[in-house]
Amino acid sequence: MKLLTVVGARPQFIKAAVLSRALPAFNASRPRDHQIQEVMVHTGQHYDDNMSAVFFQELNIPEPAHHLGVGSGPHGQQTARMLERLEPVMERERPDLVLVYGDTNSTLAGSLVASKLPIPVAHVEAGLRSYNRTMPEEINRVVTDHLSALLFCPTDRAVKNLSCEGIVAGVHRVGDVMYDSLLYNLARADRRAGVMAELGLQPGQYGLATIHRAESTDRPETVTGILSALGRLGLPIVVPLHPRTRAVLDAAGVGHVTGPVRLIAPVSYHEMLILERHARLILTDSGGVQKEAFLLGVPCVTLRNETEWVETVEAGWNRVAGTTPDAVEAAARLALEELCPEQGQPYGDDHAADAILGIVADYCRKERS
Ligand code: UD1
Ligand code: UDP
Repeated sequence: MKLLTVVGARPQFIKAAVLSRALPAFNASRPRDHQIQEVMVHTGQHYDDNMSAVFFQELNIPEPAHHLGVGSGPHGQQTARMLERLEPVMERERPDLVLVYGDTNSTLAGSLVASKLPIPVAHVEAGLRSYNRTMPEEINRVVTDHLSALLFCPTDRAVKNLSCEGIVAGVHRVGDVMYDSLLYNLARADRRAGVMAELGLQPGQYGLATIHRAESTDRPETVTGILSALGRLGLPIVVPLHPRTRAVLDAAGVGHVTGPVRLIAPVSYHEMLILERHARLILTDSGGVQKEAFLLGVPCVTLRNETEWVETVEAGWNRVAGTTPDAVEAAARLALEELCPEQGQPYGDDHAADAILGIVADYCRKERS
């Protein structure tokens, strides 16, 4: 049976690597006609080497069979290009199932094209909600969930969110592939441990920040306000800067920040894990980075007004601060002072990929018979 996977943005490469890595062992344990052949399509939403190629190399992800090269653009234009270029690929490949990850425009395009052909859709990271419809990602995930035949939820809360929208069929709580990825890659990340010395950082004596969401970057004053709050925290803060944020700062003529805040280019996944693990504090508007902070036991301040990863907040490890400088500074100071409580583990048991592959194979077999 054939599985067509659509990826396009940085976190999707990391998530897709988990399934691609599990696939050979899964196939080896199955009779030939129960095996899964994966065809990967890269939309080209992210294309800089440090936003795309570095993840394929570091995580040994097979070269995508199709590269659509859509590049950047306004939402309508970027998504339209994906729709136009994905349709002939899916028509030619005729997969049994299309698999999409997360909530990006690549996710939306993959699920829309597939469902109209029609090819069933499987959504990994289903059921997450911010309940903020001004977020493009919220629209992408709501639409994708409502189009999906298989919905792979990372948490119990995600299952509940879907049930509140009347989605109960095809829902599976499998755990979080990002948790599996973290466990697998932590030891391997030591190969890049030199990044600490390269950046002159001492374990436990610096903060790490990432900023890329529309709500933090649409107005340059919001980003500069956040950066000025970070500069007042009394410890060095390293910021691997997403190209969107770099472009906003450069266009506003404020791209050369000095002092304790250090803007650097995006880093590889293994470098990021090293920087996260040794940080005293993480400040971020990223979904993936919030969870990694929690799983690594590093206090986190979320630079947004809400989060989908509510378990990290309920456990006392994550403070949702918003984006105003005073609120960011106050939350960061509290996070630096207060001890975090014992952690639970709401993100699964490191077997999400095997669970997903098993359910996918059973589903495709039933559909064929
Ligand atoms: C996208 C996702 C977001 C996800 C993030 C992961 C959507 C709507 N948003 O946001 O959910 O958290 O990816 O990182 O899909 N750019 C480059 N080089 C690149 C990629 C982007 O310079 O390789 C710049 C371009 O100026 C582009 C901007 O970044 O316009 C934004 O890129 P885009 O893919 O549209 O959205 P992200 O902010 O990356
Ligand atoms: N990440 C990375 N290099 C960076 C910044 C982030 O490898 O310079 C990783 C991070 O560790 C996490 C994922 O990218 O695994 C999160 O992606 P991102 O913040 O772009 O998107 P989101 O999770 O918010 O959708």
